[in-house]
Amino acid sequence: MKLIRVENYEEMSSKAAQLVEQQIRDNPRSVLGLATGSTPLGLYEKLIEGVRERGISYRDVQTFNLDEYRGLSGEHPNSYRHFMNDKLFQSIDIQLKNTYVPNGKALPVEEECRRYEALIDELGPPHLQILGMGTNGHIGFNEPGTPETSRTHCVKLEKSTRNSNARFFSDRDEVPTHAITMGIESILKSEKVLLLASGKKKAQAVKRFLEGRVSKDFPASFLWKHSDVTLIVDREAYGLVK
Ligand code: F6R
Repeated sequence: MKLIRVENYEEMSSKAAQLVEQQIRDNPRSVLGLATGSTPLGLYEKLIEGVRERGISYRDVQTFNLDEYRGLSGEHPNSYRHFMNDKLFQSIDIQLKNTYVPNGKALPVEEECRRYEALIDELGPPHLQILGMGTNGHIGFNEPGTPETSRTHCVKLEKSTRNSNARFFSDRDEVPTHAITMGIESILKSEKVLLLASGKKKAQAVKRFLEGRVSKDFPASFLWKHSDVTLIVDREAYGLVK
């Protein structure tokens, strides 16, 4: 595991953007694995800047998002499809048809999970997977207890995850109870993983991650089984590491 320590969120975002842009320069037909949430927002802003100011092109890039809320259509303002279109895709020259997010409305859900995993195998796996980390160590929506052999599947969200995501909804009860997520095994298929962590509220999770003990109770720890993981962490998130 490669550890890159930076001062703050801004620097974490710039450093992450440099690595993503290097990947696109090396292979303009790259497949990227993408995350939603607060962590990658700054990165996405930098990537948009990269198109305008550094001549980076996403014309031949394909993307797979980690997860989607179950029950929300892509048009719903809180869906992850909407988030990605709004925060990144509409501002770069990517072809929307090359961007994949699970369909939260598809039924039966098991069928949608199989379809998504098959698509990852067919077009991917991602050359570079971007990940944030939940305070309980979740990656994607793989909550503690998720087996290492998990592929794209439907999950019941933990109360802590629903609470922390409630900030995006007008009412706590509106936060969906279930989601579709790539599994641990799906994530570990990626060639490279870029894990980002910023801020005090991630300090406990970063500390536990860096202990390096692989455990089902802390899903991010499975990343220790991957041979090419880079963690970019800022000062606050690193604050509890001895
Ligand atoms: C989002 C995702 C989640 C988030 C995690 C951290 O697609 O898969 O695992 O990365 O919940 O969220 P933030 O970045 O909002 O702290």
